[in-house]
Amino acid sequence: MSTTHESADRDAARQPESGRNNSSTRSGRIKSYVRRQGKMTAGQRRALLKDAQRWIVSFESKPIDLARIFQNQNPVVLEIGFGMGETTQTIAQKRPEVNFLGVEVYTAGVGSLVNRITQSNLSNIRIIQHDAVEVLEQAILPDSLDAVHIFFPDPWHKKKHHKRRLIQPAFTTLVASRLKPGGLLHCATDWEPYAEQMLEVLSSCPLLQNTCHGYGPRPDYRPVTKFETRGLRLGHKVADLVFSRRLPSPANQTAS
Ligand SMILES: C[S@@+](CC[C@H](N)C(=O)[O-])C[C@H]1O[C@@H](n2cnc3c(N)ncnc32)[C@H](O)[C@@H]1O
Repeated sequence: MSTTHESADRDAARQPESGRNNSSTRSGRIKSYVRRQGKMTAGQRRALLKDAQRWIVSFESKPIDLARIFQNQNPVVLEIGFGMGETTQTIAQKRPEVNFLGVEVYTAGVGSLVNRITQSNLSNIRIIQHDAVEVLEQAILPDSLDAVHIFFPDPWHKKKHHKRRLIQPAFTTLVASRLKPGGLLHCATDWEPYAEQMLEVLSSCPLLQNTCHGYGPRPDYRPVTKFETRGLRLGHKVADLVFSRRLPSPANQTAS
């Protein structure tokens, strides 16, 4: 087997704590999205004009101070690709003691989530409108997240597009490296071949261990979304995968 993945894995795990070494960040040069224009509703446009500053954090290629942006020390969950933000809103409402940092490139989706935040009077969500790969590489410190949610990432059905899928070895190592030991990576998909890829990739990541045997049940906190309901109607099975970042083994801990 080629060692491309292995070396990319090493690159990802070694990422510096700031963006000072961008040119070597091979891990993530996955182009996992297309820039969708999408039609914005008047409400989404208004939300972006009026309330954006409060909830949107600008991307900069240096680490974000999570405690500063949320103004507290609560645990932080990063959600990649929140779409229109229904799930983010529901989970953030159920768990006010947890902070949610949503990363999405789709402007109408960002407008929709800003709208939801203001309508529901939520204070525990912040948004970054940027490529999640670069956010993880450059703006999130290693060992800093309590969980990462990746719900229904684009499945890129065609074989020639599989390289655009997010869940690949180097990206997974990058995500895992940003979790605190014991932190959770929760992925869900309704596309069976992608679920199989996820299971294989996550199971092979040395930093992670499965919290279940194979696929797990949908955790209570994850609501069933419109997107998912459509998949279920089409006869797709939904797979949830919940992996945790391994605790450092005693052998790797140096005596102080
Ligand atoms: C299929 S949608 C799923 C949306 C939502 N999670 C749901 O369950 O309904 C995938 C979303 O991920 C976003 N996305 C894909 N790659 C991304 C990336 N690298 N950074 C940020 N967002 C991304 C897309 O813009 C899209 O909105």
